[in-house]
Amino acid sequence: MILLTGATGYIASHTWLALWAAGYDVIGVDDFSNSSPEVLNRLQRLGGRTPLFERADVCDSAAMLSLFKRHPISAVVHFAAFKAVGESSAKPLAYYRNNIGGLVSVAEAMNASGCKTFVFSSSATVYGTPEQLPIPESASLATTSPYGATKLIGENILADIARADPAWRVALLRYFNPVGAHESGLIGEDPRGTPNNLMPYVTQVAVGKRERLQVFGGDYETVDGTGVRDYIHVSDLAEGHVAALRHLMDPSGSSFTANLGTGRGHSVLELVRAFERASSCHIPYDIVARRTGDVAACYADASRARDLLGWQATRGIDAMCADSWRWQRSNPHGYGD
Ligand SMILES: NC(=O)c1ccc[n+]([C@@H]2O[C@H](COP(=O)([O-])OP(=O)(O)OC[C@H]3O[C@@H](n4cnc5c(N)ncnc54)[C@H](O)[C@@H]3O)[C@@H](O)[C@H]2O)c1
Repeated sequence: MILLTGATGYIASHTWLALWAAGYDVIGVDDFSNSSPEVLNRLQRLGGRTPLFERADVCDSAAMLSLFKRHPISAVVHFAAFKAVGESSAKPLAYYRNNIGGLVSVAEAMNASGCKTFVFSSSATVYGTPEQLPIPESASLATTSPYGATKLIGENILADIARADPAWRVALLRYFNPVGAHESGLIGEDPRGTPNNLMPYVTQVAVGKRERLQVFGGDYETVDGTGVRDYIHVSDLAEGHVAALRHLMDPSGSSFTANLGTGRGHSVLELVRAFERASSCHIPYDIVARRTGDVAACYADASRARDLLGWQATRGIDAMCADSWRWQRSNPHGYGD
């Protein structure tokens, strides 16, 4: 049985379905600090079975110990974390407590129960301002926000655990920019308040929730002056987790770090145009000042995940936009709470 922490969140809910499709049993935990219980109903509809779920805070060590005592958990995919870069600068302690405290209490409970297989949600943010493009895993690491620091510290903690006890197998997965939604339109990204990321902002403009898109920076040295990112369909990302778990759980597998991206960059305006094509909606936008901390371009060297895990993203920008639109159009208020 695989434990998903942060299980009702955006990426975890898609990973849950991918794990079911691959034949794994799953148990989820979440405290609903950034997600809705309605996700569980949607998973039930899509999977045709009742998701096994417990509401808990991963920082609660006693709750984590109890969870591992009561369920035969063989591996963990640890998604639970706060993830808003800007908010992390305003509330650094909340981010360190939740993201580092949660990781430590889950890892301690795993040690106590003998479960030593761990997949960690890291992020391309650990590369800071990239020195080379595409970015290989060997690139130098530097963070520009407390959020990024929690990911880098998390990676270091896990590397230390694996060094101290070689029975541990750890996958550090550095996600690029997840977008899109399940093709059914039943699950997707449901940010609270003003979206921090481009795609939910675009879809909210399309559905009439926001008037215009603000594009941060039109004078970068990129194809059209707007920022370039490696957008990856969340269902591809979900399948990347299945491939990572398969590798770790194989007798010949071992710990690794891998980028999960497509290896292709798209500018903000390219994404907006692709979305307009997919949705037949017009997206009015204004180009405004650059946002502090944003880099001009960031995209992955995705070859290690391909060579090591036999995984690569298959869904292109048009599918990402069509699926995001289907989700937003069918759920204009997200999960509705
Ligand atoms: N979405 C991105 O752009 C992106 C990029 C790189 C890395 N990541 C990482 O991937 C992971 C998942 O991201 P997401 O986009 O699905 O975010 P999300 O906010 O949708 O999911 C995170 C889930 O964790 C839960 N959670 C937070 N703290 C918790 C706690 N203490 N106990 C129990 N549950 C808790 C939230 O309620 C939420 O359901 C995070 O670790 C994030 O940092 C996300």
